[in-house]
Amino acid sequence: MKKRVLIISSANMDFVMKVGKLPEAGQTVVETNSYDYVPGGKGANSAVAFARLGGDSIFCARMGNDQHAQRMKALYKDCGIDTRFIKHDRVAPTGLASIIVEGDGANRIVVYPGANMKLSTDDIEDAFTCLPDAVFLHFEIPDSAVIAATQFAKQRKIPVFVDAGPARADYPLDKLGPLEVISPNESECFALTGIQPNDSQNCLKAAFTLMQKVETKYVVIKLGGRGAYIYDGKYAQLLASYEGEVVDTTAAGDSFTAAMTLEYLRTGDIVRAVKYANAVGTMVVGKAGASSSIPDAAQVDEFIRSRGIVL
Ligand code: RIB
Repeated sequence: MKKRVLIISSANMDFVMKVGKLPEAGQTVVETNSYDYVPGGKGANSAVAFARLGGDSIFCARMGNDQHAQRMKALYKDCGIDTRFIKHDRVAPTGLASIIVEGDGANRIVVYPGANMKLSTDDIEDAFTCLPDAVFLHFEIPDSAVIAATQFAKQRKIPVFVDAGPARADYPLDKLGPLEVISPNESECFALTGIQPNDSQNCLKAAFTLMQKVETKYVVIKLGGRGAYIYDGKYAQLLASYEGEVVDTTAAGDSFTAAMTLEYLRTGDIVRAVKYANAVGTMVVGKAGASSSIPDAAQVDEFIRSRGIVL
């Protein structure tokens, strides 16, 4: 049986520019690379990943009533995502992200959230009627929505997985209901704990600090090219990522956390789930774009087989 995951999160249209050199303040840089509009948003990227990797992906979000929303929803339907719980706001536009991708694949993102910030507690309560096996969240929607989602899940005994992006220092982690996993990347980890996870000692300090702020079974810190760090309050383990070309890191974190969640739901094994997610992350950074760079389950299986990875 496929695992049913309710993703309560954001949808953005990404305006992506690939640049050789970032402009200084006051400087204009003329680029010969092309630009593109590609469907993105942390929630939507994860929803696409859940669907492509073999989950039942149910997406609860708010978009505008505009052309971006039409194009994005068509993609979700193509991927087999359940779009029943996507609401169209009559006033706010679909979220927009401005993304600059540098030559080494690193990205800088500014999000104009638009309709994402209108996602309401009623929208979320309605979505729980899909009877999910798990709930998956990011912080790109109102704090009140994230808090309500964790409380609804707690009442229904549904496990909650949180990708802690985008994070800020004053995020009300103490208001969240119990989590199965919280997974920040390096900058989100620093924002939430004040500790840079730059070596194993600091990873442990940061993960421990995070566990004091929020009730969670596991902390999984995404460390980009270094892999991912798992902590369960007693044991810690760094799982290295795999070698590969870095073209564009956009959506790598969103797909990593979705892949980890799905494999964990399928097997109950967090170490295996993180190894699987490391494979997905390596594949995503090797291609340009957000949702367009996410592989399907057969491609991931082939990657794992061809690299001789033992899960
Ligand atoms: O994590 C990548 C995503 O962050 C982009 O697709 C952008 O829309 C922002 O939400």
